[in-house]
Amino acid sequence: MGNGAASVIAIDGPAGVGKSTVGVQLAERLGYLFLDSGVLYRAVALAALQRGIPIGDEAELRDLAASLNIEVRLPHPSEAHDQRQYTVLLDGTDVTWQLRQPQVEAVVSEVAAWPAVRTAMLPHQRNIAAAGRIVMVGRDIGTVVLPNADLKIYLEAPLQERAKRRYKERIERGEHPSIAQVEQEVAHRDEIDSHRATSPLRPAEDAIILNTGDLSADEVLDKVTQLAGGVI
Ligand code: CDP
Repeated sequence: MGNGAASVIAIDGPAGVGKSTVGVQLAERLGYLFLDSGVLYRAVALAALQRGIPIGDEAELRDLAASLNIEVRLPHPSEAHDQRQYTVLLDGTDVTWQLRQPQVEAVVSEVAAWPAVRTAMLPHQRNIAAAGRIVMVGRDIGTVVLPNADLKIYLEAPLQERAKRRYKERIERGEHPSIAQVEQEVAHRDEIDSHRATSPLRPAEDAIILNTGDLSADEVLDKVTQLAGGVI
């Protein structure tokens, strides 16, 4: 890594665009921390489902979000065999794969659209970034969470491409969705994420927009490494 490498790196974009994959690998190359902010909202959604808290109850969800202990860390060697990129602990319990369940996918965007839930998540995200040397991915990292990031990247790709990636991931996990079903789910989240009043999905004015549709995962990684000022 060169000395001129960006320290705080924000990567935003819609579902299935490859943010986490590229973010994890970029952080690894640079020797940085990585945070997928989506897991925070997924953890709140999962906890709400487990406790029977209605997804329409903003105040209850805010209290829940503020009270949860969500820890994201690199996998231990004993866990790494199952393809996970990181491990998520919710109040001490490993929920890494539960966060990807269709039940969570179905409600996470409604949970994340509540302004009070987003506010409750801000300190957590900013604390993690305070020391620098971090790659954080999400929807509003460059616009709201870390507006002073050294580098902001916004990834985009057509819905069909993104749905195809999500479909493959779910087949690999032993699920049996139809491609049409996955496309509909991704489109549903796109719709809510892009049109909510608070922190909607959009590129920051100073973000570099990268279309990943025609690029392999390695090509995207090389491109963002270059932009970050790191060594490929
Ligand atoms: O991995 P994928 O892009 O499918 O989803 P994710 O990044 O885990 O995010 C799940 C949901 O959390 C998104 O659809 C958003 O509704 C919400 N989210 C958000 O509102 N703000 C963020 N910074 C990250 C995620």
